[in-house]
Amino acid sequence: MSEFVSSNGYEECRATADWLLSSTKVRPTVGIVCGSGLGGLADMLKDPQVFKYSDIPNFPRSTVHGHAGQLVFGMLKGKPCVCMQGRFHLYEGYPVQKITLPMRVFKLIGVETMILTNAAGGLNKDFKVGDVMIIKDHINLPGIAGVNPLVGPNDDRFGLRFPCMSDAYDRKLGQLAHDVAAELGFKFVKEGVYCAVSGPSFETIAECRMLRTLGADAVGMSTVHEVIAARHAGMRCFALSLISNCTVMEYDSQEKANHEEVLETARQTAAQLEKLVSTIVARMEHSNTSF
Ligand code: HPA
Repeated sequence: MSEFVSSNGYEECRATADWLLSSTKVRPTVGIVCGSGLGGLADMLKDPQVFKYSDIPNFPRSTVHGHAGQLVFGMLKGKPCVCMQGRFHLYEGYPVQKITLPMRVFKLIGVETMILTNAAGGLNKDFKVGDVMIIKDHINLPGIAGVNPLVGPNDDRFGLRFPCMSDAYDRKLGQLAHDVAAELGFKFVKEGVYCAVSGPSFETIAECRMLRTLGADAVGMSTVHEVIAARHAGMRCFALSLISNCTVMEYDSQEKANHEEVLETARQTAAQLEKLVSTIVARMEHSNTSF
């Protein structure tokens, strides 16, 4: 890697993957990332085997309140899964390559499909707190400014130098999610574009108005970096945002975004989100897509 700093190089990811493979008999084909307050998704796994991030070689540590900081292996509706209970964010100070290391490790242990969840601020005026948005596309603001996990030398063992992102979010899984939501009578399930910002400060009113004008329906501080690394490595991706707060668009509004509201909304709606995700996993067919 010479003069370039790499914190998610092939050898490093391989060593972490081998450590995990020798520590559990579970061979996951599905990876799940639990967003803020949504760690309960991991509690659905049968016969769970838990590894604290601090015990896993090369893994970063989760520093955010509401994120447990552990990997959970187990079975969900008969499918072998690995769950990240807690993820890594730019605002914690990690380089974007370190944030996405788990995606490359998952690829090396055999994961084919990534399901990512997050809590996000609603920008679309039709969204209400407690809605769930199927992410159909993203705007990567840090990426546009040069903070992309694939910056640096490309390792062809993971994927292409210039991966396509017009199919970042798997359309079949999106359709399956709509079908499952309709069957469950979940009228609060919507669809839209997620915009990533670096945080940790929430957006100003002017920024919210700008993001809406740009075509974003929800804003958050995660997910897109993981999706880019996962797609680069040929895994299919499906992602959901829980609308935990509505962003402030008017100067005479008394509303103020805060992390406690984000966690409280997640607590109230987690059970429905878990039902949605577990039913999608149960119905999912094996992935035969890559790039
Ligand atoms: N902005 C950015 N990130 C968020 C928000 C928000 O309003 N809510 C939850 N994550």
